Amino acid sequence: MSIDSPADLAGLKRAGAVVAATLRELRRHVRPGITTRELDLVAADVFARHGARSGPILTYDFPGTICISVNDEAVHGIPGPRRLRDGDVVKLDVTAELDGYYADACVSVPVGKPRPATARMVAAAQVALRRGIDAARAGAPRNAIGAAVEAEVQRRGFTVLHELTGHGIGTSLHEAPTIFNYRDPTDTEPLTEGLVITIEPMIAAGDTEVRPSGDGWTQLTERGSRSAHMEHTLVVRRDAPPLVLTA
Ligand code: MF3
Ligand code: CO
Ligand code: CO
Repeated sequence: MSIDSPADLAGLKRAGAVVAATLRELRRHVRPGITTRELDLVAADVFARHGARSGPILTYDFPGTICISVNDEAVHGIPGPRRLRDGDVVKLDVTAELDGYYADACVSVPVGKPRPATARMVAAAQVALRRGIDAARAGAPRNAIGAAVEAEVQRRGFTVLHELTGHGIGTSLHEAPTIFNYRDPTDTEPLTEGLVITIEPMIAAGDTEVRPSGDGWTQLTERGSRSAHMEHTLVVRRDAPPLVLTA
């Protein structure tokens, strides 16, 4: 959506605050031995306390409140009996709906003692997201975001998973436009003031493609490399940096 009233902005801010609070609470619970289902229940509890609902359930009938993906699981992992182990990396992707407004954010969290290569990959995704946010100005071509993301990811020796993208968001979870994590030369439409989008680098150590796991939801990196994913929902502005709703 594009914001055109103070009510829209206030509604999106409330949804964004629920997502941020959920991620804060989830991070506190990440440790070796916890199951992904237990983490999902933590998220469900925060949603319930705020009167928010799960975007994935509402929109796609997803079998979990949030998506939880571990190691080579890139996106859309289903919460379940899997126990996190020391050295894993877990991606917590949270989409909340509150009063008809949606916000979406993801963090990648090392479990226990991080492997150095995993810490570097998580940092690369984090900084690439920051670069993408800095490039998202009204008037700039849409592909300036992906160009900035991709350059940072490559500079740090990692690869973008090309099929996985950011998106418009607002009164539904996935809206136009698609926000690529690489420079699509044809994607030059100018960004517009008030546009609400996610930026979400999904990166790996070598792989550029994903493949379905067979459970109907989870996408794995094609050759089993680990992946990282960082995401925020933000409002594009002309004379100011984007307003990040999920920080
Ligand atoms: N949070 C995901 C995104 O960033 C959407 C998950 S919807 C699901 O776009 F149904 F696949 F879980
Ligand atoms: Co998400
Ligand atoms: Co998203």
